[in-house]
Amino acid sequence: MSIYRTRRSIKPLAMDPQREVSRELVMALLEDAHWAPTHGLTQPWRFQVFATPAARARLADGLLSIYDATTPAAKRDEQKRAKLAAAPRHAPVVIAVAARVEPGGKIPEWEEVAAVSCAAQNLMLSAHEHGLGSYWSTPPAACCVEFARWLGLDETHRMLGLVYLGWPADGQPTPQSVRAPLAERVTWHEA
Ligand SMILES: Cc1cc2nc3c(=O)[nH]c(=O)nc-3n(C[C@H](O)[C@H](O)[C@H](O)COP(=O)(O)O)c2cc1C
Repeated sequence: MSIYRTRRSIKPLAMDPQREVSRELVMALLEDAHWAPTHGLTQPWRFQVFATPAARARLADGLLSIYDATTPAAKRDEQKRAKLAAAPRHAPVVIAVAARVEPGGKIPEWEEVAAVSCAAQNLMLSAHEHGLGSYWSTPPAACCVEFARWLGLDETHRMLGLVYLGWPADGQPTPQSVRAPLAERVTWHEA
């Protein structure tokens, strides 16, 4: 079966925290992402890589502080906080994904976001081809302007969340994921 069908999301906590993913491999995956289609060749993807324990701990602390600053006290959820803090500390590589949008440019914002989504899919498919697990995560704390600012990005950037990468932990089966019958999603025009 093709990699398009066998790729499955592997949650950060199901990745092996001890097994390193080399910088060369991360760059090879990002190179594949970089060849995604892009209207006007704007190449709007911006990747910020957190691949050391210190960088990932700083990311986890940053996300927590953004969660606390942007979530009313009554709505704060300790389970969500704990997940937000644990995932970046556990997975060996976390990539924050942003789309650069040119103010007043000829390419509409949605197309730039779509192009970056294509890049993210290339990244995850390439990871899968190399035997790595991947997981695209979009908690509000990782998709807001506050996070863009925390990363040092200006207001022309839209945050698309985090892509986690890591080797699936021993004994972790590839999760099943079901799809509705394809025919329910396709219309053929015959005349
Ligand atoms: C844009 C996007 C955002 C996602 N955000 C989340 C998320 O925040 N939390 C989550 O559990 N899964 C998230 N996912 C992963 C989906 O849950 C997953 O792709 C879906 O369950 C299908 O499983 P599969 O990837 O194994 O086929 C996201 C996927 C995409 C494409």
